[in-house]
Amino acid sequence: IKIAVLISGGGSNLQAIINAIKAGKINGEIKLVISDKKDVYGLERAKKEEIHNFTILQSDFSTKKQWNQAILQVLEDYKIDLVLLAGFMSILDKEIVKAFPNAIMNIHPSLIPSFCGKGYYGKKVHQAVLEYGVKLTGVSVHFVDEGADTGPIILQEAVKVKQEDTVESLAQRVLKVEHKLYPKAVQLFTQGKLKVEGRKVFILE
Ligand code: GRF
Repeated sequence: IKIAVLISGGGSNLQAIINAIKAGKINGEIKLVISDKKDVYGLERAKKEEIHNFTILQSDFSTKKQWNQAILQVLEDYKIDLVLLAGFMSILDKEIVKAFPNAIMNIHPSLIPSFCGKGYYGKKVHQAVLEYGVKLTGVSVHFVDEGADTGPIILQEAVKVKQEDTVESLAQRVLKVEHKLYPKAVQLFTQGKLKVEGRKVFILE
């Protein structure tokens, strides 16, 4: 299947998917990387793998709608089957979500529905986790719907919070789990093992 990865930063999750494909763990191909930020390291990772990559900035368009249109156009031009948001910091509008029903995934560094939605991204998630004093955080991979981190959950894995954790140490441990969980979710998709019924995702054996 043809995969597109949307990034806004370092692209370590993009790299995890690249590595999983090279290791033969995902029968799919990344045909396209789109960044909504300029000169991010994730674009270097794409260039190193000679993956077609585009920077599509909201500031280059007079409306967010036109920005969304530009992204949708490229996804269609490349005949993409699965869109992966990986450290992507913008919200895609419903037109794109409708064009890829249960074919857009996102990874979030917490156990949804905790510490997610507006304002909970990147390090802010781990800050809130530490401030709250929860004993367990984790990683969630979900299908994208019109909301922020609200779509049907595909996979989750818990990560223990240690007494001595800092935002950095926790972020690092959570990121390692992301790099394992995302490729697993993508492989299940390529094997046709994900069945969505309403809010629930069933994993077929
Ligand atoms: C990280 O905070 C990660 O937890 C979340 O997005 C941020 C950047 O990820 N998924 P990446 O290294 O750009 O994939």
